[in-house]
Amino acid sequence: MAEILAIQGSARRGGNSDSLLGSALGALQKAQDGSEIETLTASELDITPCRSCHGCWETGICVIDDRMQQVYRQCLEAEHIIVSAPVYFTSLPGQLKVMIDRFQCFWVRTYRLGSPPRPRRSGMFLCIGAMDDTRFFDSASLIIRTWMSTLNMKCKVARFYHGLDAPGDFEHHPDYLKDAAAAAKELKG
Ligand SMILES: Cc1cc2nc3c(=O)[nH]c(=O)nc-3n(C[C@H](O)[C@H](O)[C@H](O)COP(=O)(O)O)c2cc1C
Repeated sequence: MAEILAIQGSARRGGNSDSLLGSALGALQKAQDGSEIETLTASELDITPCRSCHGCWETGICVIDDRMQQVYRQCLEAEHIIVSAPVYFTSLPGQLKVMIDRFQCFWVRTYRLGSPPRPRRSGMFLCIGAMDDTRFFDSASLIIRTWMSTLNMKCKVARFYHGLDAPGDFEHHPDYLKDAAAAAKELKG
């Protein structure tokens, strides 16, 4: 069982979200506190979108048998979940949003059946955007906080990094890389 589940939410590999996530995970590995880290790339998941079929309505269990069944287990087992993702049209990349929508069965467990996952777990969100206007982060942040609450998890740390567009832009922001590392320590502190 991995204590930390890290979710890479960008459609592109090796970009800004990937690099900031790498910095955060590097800080955790350096701390050498024995926490096991598991990573997952949303764009590589072979999953189908939520069909709103209400197949989970009475049980809180999704009836679609695909890779999400493993993602559910990973999210239930982790003490901390870290999501790193860019803003797309004020929201999140479709691949990540498809994954999040599939947690409707957890919404059912938590809010309809009154049987939420175990408490006292925490999450972190690293959000990346090209624009300097921080309002672009608002909806993405609300989506992540709402998703984490269906997992009975608090989004303890959220960081917003603006002015990053081309894949290598993070290199011009050593302050951002340092901050992502500090954020990871805050999550575990
Ligand atoms: C489809 C699409 C929509 C985007 N929408 C926004 C936006 O609404 N606000 C913003 O600040 N940046 C927006 N961006 C820019 C990305 O957030 C930016 O390029 C980011 O650095 C990408 O992160 P990555 O390198 O991890 O993929 C958009 C990019 C794409 C491809």
